[in-house]
Amino acid sequence: MSAYQEAFDLSAAEPEVFWKQQAENLAWFQFPTTILSQDEHGIERWFADGELNTAYLALDHHVAQGRGDQTALIYDSPVTGQKARYTYRVLRDQVAKVAGMLAELGVEKGDRVVIYMPMIPEAAMAMLACARLGAIHSVVFGGFAPNELAVRIEDAEPKVVITASCGVEVSKVIPYKPMVDQAVMDSRWKPAHVVVFQRKQCLADLHHARDKDWSALMRTATPHDCVPVKATDPLYILYTSGTTGKPKGVVRDNGGHAVAMHYSMSTIYHVDPGDVFWAASDVGWVVGHSYIVYAPLIYGCTTIMYEGKPVRTPGPSAFWRVCDEYGVKVLFSAPTAFRAIKKEDPDGTFLQDYPMVNLTTIFMAGERLDPPTLEWVEAKTGRPVVDHWWQTETGWAIAGNPLGLERFVVKPGSATKPIPGYQVEVLNELGEVQPANTQGYIAIKRPLPPSCLPTVWRNHDRFESGYLSQFPGYYVSGDGGYIDEDGYLFVMGRIDDVINVAGHRLSTGEMEEVVGSHEAVAECAVIGIHDELKGQLPLGLVVLKDGFVSENGNIEQALLQKVRQEIGAVACFQQAIIVDRLPKTRSGKILRRVIRQIADGEQYVVPSTIDDPSSLDELARVLE
Ligand code: COA
Ligand code: AMP
Repeated sequence: MSAYQEAFDLSAAEPEVFWKQQAENLAWFQFPTTILSQDEHGIERWFADGELNTAYLALDHHVAQGRGDQTALIYDSPVTGQKARYTYRVLRDQVAKVAGMLAELGVEKGDRVVIYMPMIPEAAMAMLACARLGAIHSVVFGGFAPNELAVRIEDAEPKVVITASCGVEVSKVIPYKPMVDQAVMDSRWKPAHVVVFQRKQCLADLHHARDKDWSALMRTATPHDCVPVKATDPLYILYTSGTTGKPKGVVRDNGGHAVAMHYSMSTIYHVDPGDVFWAASDVGWVVGHSYIVYAPLIYGCTTIMYEGKPVRTPGPSAFWRVCDEYGVKVLFSAPTAFRAIKKEDPDGTFLQDYPMVNLTTIFMAGERLDPPTLEWVEAKTGRPVVDHWWQTETGWAIAGNPLGLERFVVKPGSATKPIPGYQVEVLNELGEVQPANTQGYIAIKRPLPPSCLPTVWRNHDRFESGYLSQFPGYYVSGDGGYIDEDGYLFVMGRIDDVINVAGHRLSTGEMEEVVGSHEAVAECAVIGIHDELKGQLPLGLVVLKDGFVSENGNIEQALLQKVRQEIGAVACFQQAIIVDRLPKTRSGKILRRVIRQIADGEQYVVPSTIDDPSSLDELARVLE
C-alpha cells in the first residue's frame, strides 16, 4: 500500500491514533491524554487537555534546540527599499518584548488584540506576541476600509489595536492611522489603547489619549515569558466573507492548529527544517497566518515577509529575484499573481537572470488554478506546480498533492487528492453521496481534522447554520465540484455569494448591501464575472428608484466610490450598470447564476421558475 493510502486510511479509520502520532512531533508543556472529544455543542475538539504555547513552538523551542542563529524571518520590501534578517534568537527576544509591552498595557490571556498592519516584521511580531501571552489576535487586511475595520473591532472587542502609520503600495503611501481613528469612532466598542508603529514614509499624529508609540513602549518594555494555554484556547480570530454583509469570525485553536501546521509542512510542502519557505501573500489573509507566520516557524524554516507585488516592484521578475536571492525552496502564491507576471512577461524572459537553484516546487491556492496558468508556470520555470484547495475555515489544505507522501500525476484543473485527515465527499441537494464525475456540494465528513474552526466567534448558531446543519454529519465547504474516477477532486467554484478577486475572498452580498443603501437604488445584484487577470471581478446591476436619473454616470460613479469607501479598494468594484429590471423567479428571487452566465457569455438554461423570460433578453442586450 502506498504511503499516502496508508496515512489516509489510518486518519479515516482511527483519527485519534493518527493525530496522536502527529501531535507527538510538538513540544507540548503537557501532552494531551484526550485526543478527540466533544464540546458542549457537540463539536469535535482536538487535544482538549493538552497545554502548549504556539509562540514557544515557533521561537523558543528552536532556540533551545540550537537553531538560535538560523534566520527565522527575512523582510524584503521593494516598495521602501528595505531588507532585514532576524534570527530565531533575535525574533524570540523581540517578540518577548512586544509581549511585555502588551502586558504592560493590560493585555492578558484571552483578551483580543486587533492588528491592522502592512507587510512589515512588526506585524508578525505582534501576532506572535499575542500568542505568547495567550491573547487572541485578529489581523485585519490593510486594504480594507475603516468601516470593515470598525465591524471587526466591534465584534472582537479588543483591548488594544496595533497599527502602523502607513502602508506602502506600488506608487502611493496609504496613511493607516486616520483609518483606525475613523474605525474606532464608528465602532461601539472602544479599545483602551491604539499602538502605532511609526514608519518614516508617513508619520502618524498620536493625538488621542489612547494613542501610544510602539518604539517608545518597546524601549522600556520588559520581556514576557510564554503563557501556557489549553489546546482548545483560541489563538486567533480571522474574519472572512460569508453570504451576508457581516463577516464571520473564524476561530482557530492553539493545539489543533499547531499540529496541523507541523504536519502540513512535511506532508504537503515536503520541506525540511532550515529550508527557506516563501508564501507571497499578506498576513491579513489565512495564507499569511498559516504560511508566512506560523507553519514555517513552528517547523524551523526561514520565512519571508515580502512587501511588494509580483509585478511593478519594480518589474515582472520580482518573484524570481526573491527566490534567487534567498534560496527559496518552496514558493506559494495565488494563480492571479502568476497571471500578472505572464501578462507583463509572456515569454518568461526575466526568468533567465535568476537560476533559483534551490526552488523545487511552486504551490498555488486562493482560487481555481486555471490550466493555462499552470502550464505557463511549469513551462517557464521548469518547476512542478501544485494546486491545493483550502479555506480560511480550515487553515490548511483540504486537497492537494501530498509530496511528502506520494507525488501524484497532475491533472490540470484538479487540486488532486484529499489530504489525510479530510474525508471529502460530493453530495447532492438531498445529502446523497454522488458517483464519480457528478457535480455537487463539496462536503467534508466529520470529524474535521485539527485546525478547522470549532465555532464562529460569539455566534455559534452561525457556525451550525452556515456549515453543519445542511447535511448532518458533514461540513459544507461552500464550493461545488466533483471527484473523478481516480479520486481526484475538481473544485469548480463557490455555490454561494462569495467571489474571489485576485485571490481575495469577498462577499457580493456585502457589496449589495452597500450599493442597496444608496438613496437612488431600488434594488441591485452584484455578481462575480470572469476576469483574465484577477480571476473574478464584481459587476453591479442596479435598478433606480422612480424619480432618479443618472446624469453622465454620476450615480454609477457614486456607487463605485461608496463600495470603495465602505469595503475598501481591495473590492475592485469598478463596474455598475443601470438596468430597467432584474431577472427574477416568480417568487421574487434574483437569478444571479443566470445573470453571471449571460455576463460571461456562457450557455444558460432559462429556469422554469422565471417570472418573465424577456427580462433575460433585455439583460443580454445591456451586457453585450
Ligand atoms: N493596503 C492598502 N491598500 C491595498 C492593499 C493593502 N495591503 N492591498 C491592496 N490594496 C489596494 C491596491 O492599492 C489597489 O488600490 P487601487 O484601486 O487604488 O489601485 C486595490 O487595493 C486593489 O489591489 P489588488 O487587487 O492587489 O490589485 P493590484 O492591481 O494592485 O495587484 C495583483 C494585482 C494580482 C498583482 C495582486 O492582487 C496580487 O499580487 N495578488 C496576489 C494574490 C494574493 O496575495 N492573494 C492572497 C491569498 S494567497
Ligand atoms: P479563503 O478563505 O480566502 O482562503 O478562500 C477560500 C475559497 O477560495 C475556497 O472556498 C475556494 O472557493 C477558493 N479556493 C481556494 N483555493 C482554491 C483552489 N486551489 N482551487 C479552487 N478554489 C480555491
